[in-house]
Amino acid sequence: MSQFVILFLLMICIMSISVNSAKILVVAPMPSYSHFTVAFRLGKELSDRGHQVTTISPYPLQVPMENYRDVSVEENIEIMDEEKKTFFGKNRRGIIENISSLFRMSSLITQYTLANQNVQRLMNSGEEFDVIIVEHFLNDALVGLGHHFKAPVVLLSSVISSVMNNYIFANPAPASYVPSKGGVVTKHMNFWQRLQNLLTVCFFNLIMEFHHLPTQREIFKKYISKDVDLDDVLYNTSLMLTNSHVSVSDAVPLVPSVIEIGGFHVNPSKKLPANLQNYLDEAEEGVVLFSLGSTLKSKDLTPRVIDSMLKAFSKIKQKVLWKFEADLSELPENVKIMKWLPQQDILAHPNVRAFITHGGFLSIVETVYHGVPVIGIPVFGDQKYNIAAAVSNGYAVSIGLNELTEEKLSWALNEILNNPKYGDNVQKWAQLMHDQPLKPIDKAVYWVEYVIHHKGASHLRSAGLDLKWYQREMIDVILFLISVAVTVSFTCYLISKKILYFLCNKQTKTNVVNINKKYK
Ligand SMILES: *[C@@H]1O[C@H](CO)[C@@H](O)[C@H](O)[C@H]1NC(C)=O
Repeated sequence: MSQFVILFLLMICIMSISVNSAKILVVAPMPSYSHFTVAFRLGKELSDRGHQVTTISPYPLQVPMENYRDVSVEENIEIMDEEKKTFFGKNRRGIIENISSLFRMSSLITQYTLANQNVQRLMNSGEEFDVIIVEHFLNDALVGLGHHFKAPVVLLSSVISSVMNNYIFANPAPASYVPSKGGVVTKHMNFWQRLQNLLTVCFFNLIMEFHHLPTQREIFKKYISKDVDLDDVLYNTSLMLTNSHVSVSDAVPLVPSVIEIGGFHVNPSKKLPANLQNYLDEAEEGVVLFSLGSTLKSKDLTPRVIDSMLKAFSKIKQKVLWKFEADLSELPENVKIMKWLPQQDILAHPNVRAFITHGGFLSIVETVYHGVPVIGIPVFGDQKYNIAAAVSNGYAVSIGLNELTEEKLSWALNEILNNPKYGDNVQKWAQLMHDQPLKPIDKAVYWVEYVIHHKGASHLRSAGLDLKWYQREMIDVILFLISVAVTVSFTCYLISKKILYFLCNKQTKTNVVNINKKYK
């Protein structure tokens, strides 16, 4: 009998040290609801499965949840508010200004987060974690929390592998066929586009190397450790989960430590509120959903644009459901505005025929997940690229915000609603997204638990990380080969010149001798 007791105790011991209930810190301080959504989806899933999740976030939960605790950094929202006001103007602002504001904002957020008293309290609490998940977006110093808590780090990227994170894993991204996402060039590039892409990539790399990383190293030194280099901490990063998949992003090379979980943030469909459910059920001709996401606001569109939109909507037989954050008078009969919409659950409704979107990456994933074709009105950041890719994948048409007129929008609506090719194409991509060996959310959880179980994943690290960039690109070897070739050719040249000279000289001499003979 006592053997059974011992066995039972042993089993309890094993269970408690296994992955069944780990302590997980999720670091998601970006004051942007879409970045938070992605981190929260993973954090919630992990807590649902019995892990103890602590989240550093600017959006603490209103209703507490089991196994889930917030460390609030609400103050971060203020930094973003100023920026947000100018978003629609961004279309007209210079590219340099856009980029510098992005980097300024991200270093402020990193700093505010580490200086925040709630975060400081957590850091000084002596608490331990089994893994740290960092929503990685130009906030490398936060990876240092892994060093601070002596826990392995998993990065979570709301978007795709890019110049912002490839260097951490030595993930190859040849500019010849991997678009930089900063512009509108898509994966099939001609000579000039490849040149443009290369220059864009170089430009970003220079900013990363000479501005972003030095700033982050300073923040790391100030708030986390003076004795360690941030670069050594980044080198130890276990792996990165990216919100990408071939159905919504390009087929690009990925090292084993970069793992695609695109589509994981889409929730299982919930029941719609009764009024919306009825509205959608009763729309026999279908519904067009219109939302510019959570950061941009439809109410900030210019009156001219709003007017053109309403005129175009009034001419279609479908209903239009528009996320509009203020009141609007004189709406056409078929247009309904609401201040907030459960976007994913509406996209899941079979009567939704088209989605008018700004082209935020999460919206693109959701629309492909639910198989709804797109009218894209991209505004800033990667949106132009996302929409250009959707157009090239055959399920979208694009209209620039500045050139939006009633005629253009009417043309786009007619094209998307009446030409079946867009719907057919998006269905094909949707099937690809759903045809995966593991559901994306299960894959995400699997890899987090994998890192906990193996206490890191240094065996996944690419040897490319131990090389300098010019060694990785073989530039030193190519230069060596060129110099060998040059030296050899030059030596051959010198030798043959010598030989020729020698031969000619001899011949001239004999000639001279012959001539002399002749004239004697
Ligand atoms: C990186 O990981 C190794 C092995 O786990 C550890 O010994 C080292 O201290 C870590 N380096 C930093 C800077 O945290």
